[in-house]
Amino acid sequence: MSKPKTKFICQQCGFESIKWMGKCPNCDEWNTFVEETIASNFKTGCNDTELNKVELLRDIQSKDEDRVKTGIGEFDRVLGGGIVQGSLVLVGGDPGIGKSTLLLQISDLMSRYMKVLYVSGEESLRQIKLRADRIIKNIQEIYLVSETSIHKIEKHVERIIPGFIIIDSIQTMFTDESSTIPGSVSQVRQVTQHLLRLAKQNGITIFIIGHVTKEGAIAGPRVLEHMVDTVLYFEGDRSQTFRILRAVKNRFGSTNEIGVFEMMTDGLKEVKNPSELLLSDRQFNAAGTAVVNCMEGTRPIMMEVQSLICHTNFGIPRRMSTGIEYNKFVLLLAVIEKKLRLNLSQSDVYINIAGGMKVQEPAVDLGVVAAIISGYLNVPVPYDCCFTGEVGLTGEVRAVGSIERRIIEAKKLGFTRIFTPEMRVNNIEGIEIRRIREIKELYDFLKKL
Ligand code: TYD
Ligand code: MG
Repeated sequence: MSKPKTKFICQQCGFESIKWMGKCPNCDEWNTFVEETIASNFKTGCNDTELNKVELLRDIQSKDEDRVKTGIGEFDRVLGGGIVQGSLVLVGGDPGIGKSTLLLQISDLMSRYMKVLYVSGEESLRQIKLRADRIIKNIQEIYLVSETSIHKIEKHVERIIPGFIIIDSIQTMFTDESSTIPGSVSQVRQVTQHLLRLAKQNGITIFIIGHVTKEGAIAGPRVLEHMVDTVLYFEGDRSQTFRILRAVKNRFGSTNEIGVFEMMTDGLKEVKNPSELLLSDRQFNAAGTAVVNCMEGTRPIMMEVQSLICHTNFGIPRRMSTGIEYNKFVLLLAVIEKKLRLNLSQSDVYINIAGGMKVQEPAVDLGVVAAIISGYLNVPVPYDCCFTGEVGLTGEVRAVGSIERRIIEAKKLGFTRIFTPEMRVNNIEGIEIRRIREIKELYDFLKKL
């Protein structure tokens, strides 16, 4: 009998090699290669009857996807308007962030329409029941099974015929086809392949929970993300109650949407108006803070940017940012120093988005600049002012999208002045629109206060 062929696969990035290596040449990680057997029963050639039908694109009947609304507005919106029947969805997040809690609540809501099978490889049925007692009032038909073998799970599915399955979590599942331990790249890949087949052939919706590694990827490589229809990330600071559900890939909707939740003692509650919550702890007359209006998907969210400037005690001044990208923050600081001639070379500068939000939208720039100028001058930004706009390298304030929606949101929250880029916007009653061309105008405004 010939020796089975093996190859070495990097558990971090999926790079393949015929010999073991200490360091992966692709992702530069150390000690990540694991030997895996190559499946040798590949069949070549096939009968005519096995061929799939080829059709003309224009002749294919199109129909809207069947969607089921869970009733949790924040969750449905992130998915693009509800759960698409037969889709494979990956929910990633740090351990303990609340993935199992969220999906148990979703199971409860889905069980009103169809049979739900919750497969747990992490917790015992008793543990799940304890949690369910706390967060679900009237438990409907949810089938629970504690199982880690994908083949056994397939058998359970044949017997129960559920319409909705939760796999908690992909890292605990395994298949006999691979000799590696559960959680390794090839295990995760092969188990997901089984689940994909299960979802697509039987029209079952499957949600897969995946833990995120320190580097922020699910199960090491991103192989999984290619295989599923939708990838959601559940994030937030575990010490805070805020949780954000973000779509990073979605075959059935936009990827910019976020859903905001709050972790309570009886499960997750959706936050319908995040701006209100994010601004609830705002201090009156505090220098160094500014409210900024950013779009998250189709929704404007207002949040507070805080800055702290203090004299440096060491030779090299410190820069630290939470919530916005570090490089962008340093760049904005450089623009401020150069264009406004503020001397920050002897100061530590810290910046933070209150509430643990992470912002990537460029419109946050003007708020960051306002917070830093206000901190530097030690002059509070007036309580009724907010900001939105991108700042360029020459200190110019650049246009941003959906400006009208931002202004309306600001007005709704009681702001009476908003600083925006030079853009054409219809006047909106009750709020003054201050169009500015460069950050110098903002500096002059704060200086005069
Ligand atoms: P869990 O859903 O088990 O996280 P994950 O599946 O992502 O690992 O959530 C665990 C945390 O949530 C735990 O620290 C306790 C907290 N929690 C609440 O605060 N309230 C609740 O009602 C529940 C069920 C959990
Ligand atoms: Mg869990």
